Amino acid sequence: MPLRLTSLGFRTKPQLWDLGRPACDHVKHFAKRSGCTPCPAGRVFLWKDHMTDKTHRSVFDRKTEITEEQKKWKPATQRVRGGLYRSQFGETSEALYLTSGYVYQSAEEAEARFKGEDDGFIYSRFSNPTVKMFEDRMCLLEGAPAARATATGMAAVTASLLCQLQHGDHVVAARALFGSCRFVVETLLPRFGIESTLVDGRDVSAWEQAMRPNTKVLFLETPSNPTLEIIDLRAVADLAHRHEARLVVDNVFATPILQRPMEFGADVVVYSATKHVDGQGRCLGGIVLADEAFVNDHLANFLRQTGPALSPFNAWVLTKSIESLDLRVRQMCRNAEIVAEALAGHKKLSRVDYPGRPDHPQHNLAMAQMDMGGSVVTFEIEGGKAAAFRVCNALTLVDISNNLGDAKSLITHPATTTHQRIPEDERLKMGITPGLVRISVGLEDPEDISEDLFRALDAA
Ligand SMILES: Cc1ncc(COP(=O)(O)O)c(C=O)c1O
Repeated sequence: MPLRLTSLGFRTKPQLWDLGRPACDHVKHFAKRSGCTPCPAGRVFLWKDHMTDKTHRSVFDRKTEITEEQKKWKPATQRVRGGLYRSQFGETSEALYLTSGYVYQSAEEAEARFKGEDDGFIYSRFSNPTVKMFEDRMCLLEGAPAARATATGMAAVTASLLCQLQHGDHVVAARALFGSCRFVVETLLPRFGIESTLVDGRDVSAWEQAMRPNTKVLFLETPSNPTLEIIDLRAVADLAHRHEARLVVDNVFATPILQRPMEFGADVVVYSATKHVDGQGRCLGGIVLADEAFVNDHLANFLRQTGPALSPFNAWVLTKSIESLDLRVRQMCRNAEIVAEALAGHKKLSRVDYPGRPDHPQHNLAMAQMDMGGSVVTFEIEGGKAAAFRVCNALTLVDISNNLGDAKSLITHPATTTHQRIPEDERLKMGITPGLVRISVGLEDPEDISEDLFRALDAA
């Protein structure tokens, strides 16, 4: 029998919830045990207090933010339980609220919600209980005060920039960026009168020289995609703040498990949750994390009005994925270390880059900012594009794909895929040569991954 819950007013006192039109027996039983008041019409009501427990929040408390107790939990506990809203059913797993909208008990209530005088949800383009769980869990993970989720990583990057910039502003960004991020900074922003300068992100003086009186944002990724350049987060954050600008960091390659840029002074952190957070090739998603002021004054309204909202279904998958994120990322990193070690010195490779290896030119900086070297290894095959293609095509275990951070090891030829749109001379400046290949090391046995690579290198 379907259960229908009817609120008797979101903020009326006392707060009662009608469980009687019609309710299953087990719900009525639960209501009885909880000391609820049966009403004359035969309905069962739950006092709102019975729908919460000590550490998890009630889904009805829209305004109830992450509890102080949750903030004190150790990271492992936060990853599993952080941000959890339990409904009146007391479900173990986080609930999936696959709904586009919410109903109001009266026109007055609808008006109050739109005025911001009532804390309930309005429309899933603005907010949704399952999306809120994902945002809150990510906040705990990152140590960020506030966050808003987006449909993709690119939506997060674009929103994090456009929400705070306007005509006449200037942006300085590292040259070594994911291709679509380069498009946003180099091509999209200037269309709206926002100028940008690209610099060698490894060189702090280059950032300094590029600053102008109207510079509002510094943008970077570290390690960079795909060349694994490392940028000094503290130095660039300090520079931004001396110029009253903000530092926005795309932390996809490091993940919040290995590196939390806000600890080094970053103002805004963005993720493609499509990568390690999902980590199993299922969902697209993104998130922007920052302080309350940034989210309230810039981001929230931008997202509300422009609409790149995360689907509640994807938010649910991503929230559950955070439970195992640390275990997956650390194992991928251990596997990547083994693969990098196996490849180093191979006669057909002119270069193997892995920030966790002492021969990486910025190894010390990488280890000062990151817990481990990451899950991506980049190497250059002698013989250029043709040789790189032969190696990719000879692999039988590792898949050719442009994604990364997946449980399955994936190989990419950046010059012809993720960075294809960048002109060749620029690509070469970024170190993306025709023979360069990026491998995102997964959770298979690293010996199997290395053997597959060796066999492919021999065959090529
Ligand atoms: C560094 C970086 N930022 C952003 C993105 C964009 O993420 P999404 O594909 O979820 O839009 C990617 C995707 O590959 C990436 O590698």
